[in-house]
This record gives sequence, structure tokens and C-alpha cells, in this order.
Amino acid sequence: MTPQGQIDWASFAVNVNISAPVVGHYNDPGLMRWTGTATYTVSSDDKSPADDAPLGLSVVHTDERGDREKQWTVLTMHGLLVDPYIVESRIDDLLDGMSQDYSHFAPLFGGDNHFHPDLAEIIEGMHSAAVLIDRVYMAETWRGRGGVGRLLISRILRIFAESAGVVATHPFPIELFKEWDDRTGLAEHPRFAEELAKVERTWESLGFQRYTQHCWVMDPAMRIHVDSVARLEKTLFADT
Ligand SMILES: CC(C)(COP(=O)(O)OP(=O)(O)OC[C@H]1O[C@@H](n2cnc3c(N)ncnc32)[C@H](O)[C@@H]1OP(=O)(O)O)[C@@H](O)C(=O)NCCC(=O)NCCS
Repeated sequence: MTPQGQIDWASFAVNVNISAPVVGHYNDPGLMRWTGTATYTVSSDDKSPADDAPLGLSVVHTDERGDREKQWTVLTMHGLLVDPYIVESRIDDLLDGMSQDYSHFAPLFGGDNHFHPDLAEIIEGMHSAAVLIDRVYMAETWRGRGGVGRLLISRILRIFAESAGVVATHPFPIELFKEWDDRTGLAEHPRFAEELAKVERTWESLGFQRYTQHCWVMDPAMRIHVDSVARLEKTLFADT
């Protein structure tokens, strides 16, 4: 079955890659980059539209029985894994130096490299790593189906972020870049506030809550996240 019609949930798989540079400024033992992807694979006899780009990046390969199959990369997300207990440099300096997006996560940590005391007010697990989500992007065909993206995000996080002290994200309506030339002035876009609110709602429905103006956090061990994912599963799998 092609994903044009009803989704075959067994065709999805999620994958996480964690990497670190061998040398250089960001070669700190407490800092690693991660990338998560979700793929959808069908037998290549399945009818897929001639232009399948809206389904994601596609490849055709041969499975272990020698049959050809087609695979779309439906969702990609990436970020950083920060372990405040083994990091050697000052975390806020590292984040500030990496990009403006990552600088939004600096208030999660105090100058002593531990989680900031304000964070302790809203999360429970303070003795573990922080998973920072920079960007998430899902191919267009899969959007607007009641939270397919959110379910895939939760499954990717489940691989490596279950025991993290905190998962943090910087909600931003990145789709608006497609229709705006000035990358630094996106906040001037007439629909910026509305689109930002939509992205914030999307994260909120996975159990994230506002920590600072630009940084939202979630404790993967808390009921609010577990219950949110259970609600999503109930709605999405209702007709399968
Ligand atoms: C973030 C994302 C993965 C969430 O996927 P999802 O859980 O399946 O959620 P949806 O895309 O279905 O819906 C999210 C919101 O956008 C709306 N939406 C977005 N694209 C849509 C589309 N093509 N058709 C209908 N609704 C759409 C939904 O109505 C919903 O808004 P609501 O809360 O008012 O109902 C996905 O929307 C995406 O890749 N967006 C583009 C990139 C982006 O903005 N990333 C987040 C910032 S890093």
C-alpha cells in the first residue's frame, strides 16, 4: 500500500545516529550530535505517484530476499546530546559559539555546568544528560493527519532519550523561510505569530512546556509526556 491512502504503520521504522568529531573545538566528551530519521518502506511493485517528492526523499533498494523495495525518508530531526557531568568546557559558551539556535538552550545550564536551579522547578530527573532538539522536518504529504510527525518524534526520542534528564526544543516556524528572503527578519512575516503559535502547540501536545521565551522543555519520565503519546496512539491507530 502506498502512503497516499491509509497508512500501514508496520512500514515505518525509526533510526538514530550519534556522532562526535575526532578533533576540533567541539571535540568535548560531553557533547555529541545526533540525527533521527523515520522511514516508510513498501515493496517497489506498489504504485507510487510519478512525482513522489512530497512523500520524502526516496531510494529503491533490494531486501534480504532479493526483492526490490522503495523507501522514503519521511521525517528528519537533529540536535545535540549534552552530558553536564562529563562536559569539560563551559556549556553556555559552547552553545553560544555553535549557533544562535543553540544559544537558546544556554539557560538550561548554570555557570557551574549543572542544570539551572529554575529547571528543577519543572522537571524531575536532574541527574542525567540533556537532549537538545534543533530542527524537525517532515515531508508534506504526511502532515495534517492528526500527529503522524509527533508520533514519529516520540518513537525517535524513545530510542535514546528515555533516560535523559530533560529534552528541550526551540519552537520556530521554519517553513516560513520558504516564503521570506530575509532570514534574520522572519519575525516581521505577517503570519509569524500565528505560525509560531502552531509550532508551540505541536510541541505542547507532546508534553513540552515553556521554560524561557525561546526554549521549551519536557521530562521524558513524567506522566504528561507518556500520557500525551498514549493519546496520540489512540487517535492515530483508531482505524487500523
Ligand atoms: C513539526 C511537524 C513534524 C509536526 O508534525 P505532525 O505532528 O504530524 O503535525 P501536523 O503537521 O499534522 O500539524 C501541526 C500543525 O500544523 C498544521 N498543519 C501543518 N501542515 C499542514 C498541512 N499540510 N495540512 C494540514 N495541516 C497542517 C496542523 O493543522 C497543526 O496545527 P493545529 O495545532 O492548529 O491543528 C510537521 O508539522 C513539520 O514537519 N512541519 C514543518 C517543519 C516545522 O515547522 N518544524 C518545527 C520546528 S523545528
